[in-house]
Amino acid sequence: MSRKNQTLGEFIIENQTSFKYTSGELSRLINSIRLAAKVVNHEVNKAGLVDILGAFGDTNIQGEDQQKLDVYANEKFIQTLTNRNIVCGIASEEEDHFITINSQDENNQNKYIVLIDPLDGSSNIDVNVSVGTIFSVYRRVTPLGTPVILEDFLQKGNQQVAAGYIIYGTSTMLVYTTGVGVNGFTLNPAIGAFYLSHPNMKFPEDGNIYSVNEGNYVHFPQGVKDYIKYCQMEEGNRPYTSRYIGSLVSDFHRNMIKGGIYIYPNTSKNPTGKLRLLYECNPMAFIAEQANGKASDGFTRILDIQPTELHQRVPFFCGSENMVGEAEEFMQKATI
Ligand code: AHG
Ligand code: MN
Ligand code: MN
Repeated sequence: MSRKNQTLGEFIIENQTSFKYTSGELSRLINSIRLAAKVVNHEVNKAGLVDILGAFGDTNIQGEDQQKLDVYANEKFIQTLTNRNIVCGIASEEEDHFITINSQDENNQNKYIVLIDPLDGSSNIDVNVSVGTIFSVYRRVTPLGTPVILEDFLQKGNQQVAAGYIIYGTSTMLVYTTGVGVNGFTLNPAIGAFYLSHPNMKFPEDGNIYSVNEGNYVHFPQGVKDYIKYCQMEEGNRPYTSRYIGSLVSDFHRNMIKGGIYIYPNTSKNPTGKLRLLYECNPMAFIAEQANGKASDGFTRILDIQPTELHQRVPFFCGSENMVGEAEEFMQKATI
């Protein structure tokens, strides 16, 4: 049902009937994300310029307060989803608590909740390196027309209806899945439209890239240390290449196209890992599996973990199926 170079708008309409519960609501939701992505993209692209224009104080040339990009992105995504009255609740990495949207109104029949990491890779913002946005969509578990509660957000990743990311890179792309494969759309900035450029994306089964912050090596669990040594060993197609951007979205995107593994293990500094299960690991795991990849916490499938809190962190191993499988074997061996 997909043609290369069709616009995201056309793709959404043509594929609407392939969603399990089709009412047009999910299509409208993806459309809102597409709009917010364009707005944030515009701001990300001029980040350096805003710095120059705003150098005399805390206001930009229009006299508006300058905002950090992650705060800006957070506001734009929340505003877009709220204004269009499409979802009943939002949870964001940037907010302490989840947000209830008119869901106490019995006329509100919106059934979806959204979780977002509005700006991923924030340490790369001011140095002109790719950053991203990650989103995840679930159907609420509590009745329509009642206020959403924590339980609506603490669902296992395997309950996701849709997930995706936007990468603000050399070009801007929106990559997403609704559970029937993964498609990537590239923004043509001159026209302001996303075009299907990467239909049916798949991780190569194997790869030769490993992405991990090796600066933390001494704090890694033994299994990860052993796996890294294995990656560096001269044998077969090894040593692998080491590539680490420091934005999950960018590292994941490259590894999905070229074949590789991304690891953020638990360390002595972050005993349960650093990445957030609900805003980062679950959506990326859903996309990975839809693209023939694999995602685990070193022992368990990410999508089967029962979340217990909103901002929960977990170790994350994600990428080409065989590579993640091997890393898991090293984790397992190290516990014996
Ligand atoms: P965020 O910017 O949303 O806080 O996420 C940053 C995450 C992830 O994107 C990245 O891979 C990782 O943190 C980098 O962490 P280190 O700097 O510790 O390597
Ligand atoms: Mn992040
Ligand atoms: Mn973030």
